[in-house]
Amino acid sequence: MKRRNFLKNASLTGLGLAVVPSIISCETDKKEQKATATGKIVVPVVVATWRFHNATKAAWEVLEKGGESIDAIIAGCRVEEADLKNTTVGNGGSPDRDGNVTLDACIMNKEGNYGAVVCMENIAHPISVARKVMEETPHVIFAGKGAEQFAVEQGFKRENLLTESSKRAWEKWKVKSEYKPIINIENHDTIGMLAIDKNGDISGGCTTSGMAYKMAGRVGDSAVIGSGLFIDNTVGGATATGMGEEVLKTVGSFLIVELMRQGRTPQEACEEGVRRIVESNPNHNNFQVGYVALNKKGEYGCYCIHGGFGISKYQEGEQTYVKSGSYIKKA
Ligand code: GLY
Repeated sequence: MKRRNFLKNASLTGLGLAVVPSIISCETDKKEQKATATGKIVVPVVVATWRFHNATKAAWEVLEKGGESIDAIIAGCRVEEADLKNTTVGNGGSPDRDGNVTLDACIMNKEGNYGAVVCMENIAHPISVARKVMEETPHVIFAGKGAEQFAVEQGFKRENLLTESSKRAWEKWKVKSEYKPIINIENHDTIGMLAIDKNGDISGGCTTSGMAYKMAGRVGDSAVIGSGLFIDNTVGGATATGMGEEVLKTVGSFLIVELMRQGRTPQEACEEGVRRIVESNPNHNNFQVGYVALNKKGEYGCYCIHGGFGISKYQEGEQTYVKSGSYIKKA
């Protein structure tokens, strides 16, 4: 299969989409309008892509006790990495087309330090390995076998990440090796998480098994600084979910943080990040991208190409799901 077709079709399988008519719109919930209007600082706070409520709850428990945002990110992301039912993150993730589960993750802290692993196999918690890369080495990204070897040296145990059900699904896929659209898979993709602790310091993390049945060696946006995640403790942070190739090409999370630095609200910045992808790519009906951003006041925003995306938020002791506005609305 030609690369262009593979990417187009693969986007339909692993990442969820809706093929629908186009009008520009913005949906915000009341809490967002209030936070934006008052300019009040409301921290601690944690936000994450999709309905990852268990993850934001775990992160909130760290923040509520006065813990640091970096520890909240680790606690939250590890919940999804350990969830065998989640086929897009960590243990139980869908394999590549050769049947190997390869994981990408990164983390960024209040000092602007960053660590990542890409295409790592056999280690269930890439977010924790990414933290070790950041804190224990002079480097920022470890890949493949080197990442796995480093993880083992750091005390992580090797384990088989391919569950029986993921294996069965892959074997079924192999019969035709075709990609077919799955419309609008909510609650079903990369987890990107941003947290601000009671000291007002922000950290972020992003972890994924990437596109289902991707070509061997494929790396998406999630572990790439500025694309799947960017943090600047003077401004805020942003993270992404969806078709990694499109986020990479527009350096989406860095763009959103820079827009917030220039005065845009998190919502406005996310919308511009999506517009940069959509307006330069006539193929945008065939893939989904969603962004979430948080500024230092604890104001948040989210936006996506196709409806169906939303974020989980924990703030002021309350957990909520915020439905994202979308560039393309359902008819
Ligand atoms: N956003 C996840 C990926 O493209 O790998």
